[in-house]
Amino acid sequence: MSGKFYITTPIYYVNDRPHIGHAYTTILADVLARFHRSLGHDTFFLTGTDEHGQKVQNAAEKRGVAPLQHCDETVVRFQELWKRLGITNDRFIRTTQAEHKRVVSEIMQELYDRGEIYKADYTGWYCVGCERFFTEKDLVDGKCPDCGRDVNAITESNYFFRMSKYQDWLIGHIKSNPEFILPAFRANETLGFLKKPLGDLCISRPKSRLSWGIELPFDKDYVCYVWFDALINYISGVGYRTDADNFANRWPASCHLIGKDILTTHSVYWPTMLKAMGLPMPKTIFAHGWWLTGNSKMSKSLGNVVNPMDMIDRAGVDAFRYFLLAEMSPGNDANFSEDAFIARYNSDLANDLGNLLSRVSKLTVRATGGVIPEPVESGDGDAELAQAVADAVAAMEESLRSFKLDQGINAAMNAVRAGNRYLEKCAPWTLAKEGKTARLHTVLHNAADAICRVAVLLEPVMPEKMTELLGVLGVAPGTIAGISALSGFKSVAGCVMKETTPLFPRIIVEEETPAPAAKAEKKGEKKTEKTVPAAAVEPVGLVTIDQFFQTKLKTARVLAAEKVEGADKLLKLQIEVGSETRQLVAGVAQFYTPDEIVGKTIVIVANLKPAKIRGIESQGMLLAAKDGKNLKLVTVDGTMPSGVEIG
Ligand code: MSP
Repeated sequence: MSGKFYITTPIYYVNDRPHIGHAYTTILADVLARFHRSLGHDTFFLTGTDEHGQKVQNAAEKRGVAPLQHCDETVVRFQELWKRLGITNDRFIRTTQAEHKRVVSEIMQELYDRGEIYKADYTGWYCVGCERFFTEKDLVDGKCPDCGRDVNAITESNYFFRMSKYQDWLIGHIKSNPEFILPAFRANETLGFLKKPLGDLCISRPKSRLSWGIELPFDKDYVCYVWFDALINYISGVGYRTDADNFANRWPASCHLIGKDILTTHSVYWPTMLKAMGLPMPKTIFAHGWWLTGNSKMSKSLGNVVNPMDMIDRAGVDAFRYFLLAEMSPGNDANFSEDAFIARYNSDLANDLGNLLSRVSKLTVRATGGVIPEPVESGDGDAELAQAVADAVAAMEESLRSFKLDQGINAAMNAVRAGNRYLEKCAPWTLAKEGKTARLHTVLHNAADAICRVAVLLEPVMPEKMTELLGVLGVAPGTIAGISALSGFKSVAGCVMKETTPLFPRIIVEEETPAPAAKAEKKGEKKTEKTVPAAAVEPVGLVTIDQFFQTKLKTARVLAAEKVEGADKLLKLQIEVGSETRQLVAGVAQFYTPDEIVGKTIVIVANLKPAKIRGIESQGMLLAAKDGKNLKLVTVDGTMPSGVEIG
């Protein structure tokens, strides 16, 4: 591996609410960056947000705020989540930053001056409702692919980048650089796409349709197409045209980590843009699969997103990082479910790793007061355990090259399981009873040493927990500086171990207990007066003040609303609750149109357990008064920001 490592994530649409799909890419990049830093490589990790375009403009308009203010308010969702997840990015770039805008503008001017960008008439199909252009092949039965309405043929002038002229060069580059697009089947996918003639890329949008973007320096009536602007972040983020030394030091990138849905923009648009600019190609574009829930892609519009915060609250940051990386083989899709999360947590972390550590620490404290002994007498099982650890180190090193971290993690867990088998086989508790101290000391030493090496391997994945684990082993922070220092590390002998409380407490899944009446019915008993619980005969309908305040009522602003297909009564709302955006499904469609409800400040139950309504997640409930045929939303008097508690 070279001495430099520059890794990027896609820049996320600032409008979106971060979900585990975004978290996955960012955690994978973080773990790779941490590994490379530990290998002594000069590492740079860039992430950020994509802030121009139609969706941001629309959302800002709906809220009645300037687009930049909207971005400033929503970008924090990503920044705060990355902080919470322990992401060690070196820079967070926003495409609205002056420096980035200047670089994009200069690139456009240069390409225009060199004839790489030209103006031409363009005929496309325009959907007035969606305010979007589509090509002939985008249409579904001649209608808008998004809303199904009629589209109009419109001819407008636009600016085009001569992408087509680089088609042959790009095919050659992909074929002669097998690491350029990974996994290899994604390179084939791109080559398949390149079998058809490549068109030129429309890189402008008339301001009459979209004004929220970077103005073309040579025509003030247009803004830059959002993808042309966004891709440039990978070079503007490391000093292209602003800091020559930094740029020369960082570029080309070692790896652009992306999801499979943005393969074409990265493997076709971006390389041809770089070629036109005369810049070297990134070494690797790695496209991972999707996180699915219930076998469909997690997405805001489907309402099946998993909020990372919920999982973090449940099991901690490190367990969440571990699960995402261990569960997904990055080339393929993976299915997310809470059951899978809990099952893996309990088996890998609570059982295998947690138990191994607590058994070894208890036995060592009992045998030597905690001092990890020198190995004295070798025996059966020693070589097998040492081999499992060596295999784990080799697999982790390989997984850094292939980006398939799940394989390295899996090998590390195999070593943990080998450690547990080793204890079963050598039975140190029996050795202790029988006074076979020489062999006992060796077994305790070998098991502790294996745990230590695995902890170093897993440290970039679970930085806090593995530091804690090494602390239990008595290995001072910084003693082993990462994976490459393992071969030079003699052993843990002499370190003083502490007895530990469980590092990963088991998650207990509470079975739903049937209510007393239901229990009686189950047994076939008749429900009688006697089976009614005592509380039911006390005055009903009264709550204490404490009980009332268990329900958190908050103000919320409706940002967007749409009808739920196939459900006359339901509206799907996107609401702002302070700095948070939530989705809520409400049975108000017969009383309010989407247009009437957008912009209202309503009252919601903010701590209601999320529920699925018609398969769409609803995160809360709005309050309304209903009287026969009338329904009126509960709103607050005067003006009040969203997210304010009511009580
Ligand atoms: N803004 C563009 C990227 C521009 S990069 C120059 C964009 N943003 S995005 O927010 O929609 O998506 C960012 C990344 O998240 C993409 O790599 C996408 O594949 C990934 N994911 C979004 N949903 C996902 C899953 N359900 N699962 C895994 N990753 C997915 O596209």
